[in-house]
Amino acid sequence: MASGIRVQTQGTLSVALVGKRAGAFVAGFRAVPGVRIVAVCEADPAARAALAARAGVAGADAYADFNDLLRRARPEAVAIGTPMHLHVPQSVAALVDGRHVLCEVTAAVDLDECRTLAAAARRAARAGGVQYMMAENANYRSDLVLVRTLAQAGLFGRVYFAEGEYIHDVKHLHRTADGTPTWRATWQVGKRGATYATHSLGPVLECFGPEARVAMVSCHGSGVWSDPSLPHDDTCLMTCHVEGGGLIKVRLDMMSNRPHEMSWYAVQGTKGAYEAARAGASGAVAWFGANAPDPRNERRWGRLADHEDALPDWMRGPAAEQARAAGHGGGDFWVAHQFATAILEGRPVPIGIDRALAYTVPGLVSEASIAAGGMPLPVPVI
Ligand SMILES: NC(=O)c1ccc[n+]([C@@H]2O[C@H](COP(=O)([O-])OP(=O)(O)OC[C@H]3O[C@@H](n4cnc5c(N)ncnc54)[C@H](O)[C@@H]3O)[C@@H](O)[C@H]2O)c1
Repeated sequence: MASGIRVQTQGTLSVALVGKRAGAFVAGFRAVPGVRIVAVCEADPAARAALAARAGVAGADAYADFNDLLRRARPEAVAIGTPMHLHVPQSVAALVDGRHVLCEVTAAVDLDECRTLAAAARRAARAGGVQYMMAENANYRSDLVLVRTLAQAGLFGRVYFAEGEYIHDVKHLHRTADGTPTWRATWQVGKRGATYATHSLGPVLECFGPEARVAMVSCHGSGVWSDPSLPHDDTCLMTCHVEGGGLIKVRLDMMSNRPHEMSWYAVQGTKGAYEAARAGASGAVAWFGANAPDPRNERRWGRLADHEDALPDWMRGPAAEQARAAGHGGGDFWVAHQFATAILEGRPVPIGIDRALAYTVPGLVSEASIAAGGMPLPVPVI
């Protein structure tokens, strides 16, 4: 057991869900014995009632105000799914109050917030073994768990290149029906840069190693085409130089007119390669030269699915069926499941504050890079 981490001595964990998006974590929490969802918090009355119903929480335990929730419901953990600019204020308030935090992406919306969050998370961990985790669900897509496991087991050899693309036309979420801009119009597409890059970066950065970090970024934009009222480039490209060697290409596109497609990934190492299925294609492919020596040098892609035996035990147990039925390819399920399991077992959570910052900070620095015409800029260690 890692020292300094609070163990839930009764083998139970009470959790409150904050913001309607946190409803996506219900199935994952319910699958962990000992976890109880005791309260919800949502500013909007209709969304609050729906969230309470989804979580099986009584009306009296449904709060409109976050501080009220902390003070009166006193959950041992909160799962935060509110708009991005509320992540740090709410996470910090909960950590200061001694509550474990699972918070949606991104961890923070600027570098000052990253420093504030880091200080609070580290102080809470030292003082009371309280943990912070960023809910990066892309890390829990089953193909990406498998690729990460294979990479960390050395099947790719030395990983030196990866790609992560988040392509999701969400223009309809930038304004309400009456045209009022939503928080996304400010915090996601009200600026330039790959500031919403954690879905793309997180899963592939882990393939470089569990402590890999981006040292330098450069960011370029395609120009504004689909919605000229917003400054955000239709496509944003961020190149990330990995400390110790290696390159990651991140494409962020939340604007382009095209059929629904969420994300795409690729990983290249000295001995192996992986490519996710492109839209409409049948399945992810992988090739591991070290495992399949080919004297005639006829290298052929195989099915990534043929390596599923390497999936970690927790992903192959009975919960896997439930996960498949939950959102984002099981990612929403596992992120809650793994957070709660780690806390109940007194282990460090899988995406703690250091990894949350490793995924979030490069995108925030990209804002200054794109403003400077793509100038490469160092990514600070926070
Ligand atoms: N990981 C993913 O795949 C994924 C998917 C969707 C959204 N998200 C993230 O989830 C968060 C929410 O996104 P969304 O699409 O649900 O946004 P949304 O605007 O649809 O919903 C936000 C909700 O938060 C509520 N809210 C606002 N202020 C609040 C407060 N102070 N206390 C309690 N509730 C409050 C609003 O009433 C609203 O219902 C964002 O951070 C977003 O980035 C992540």
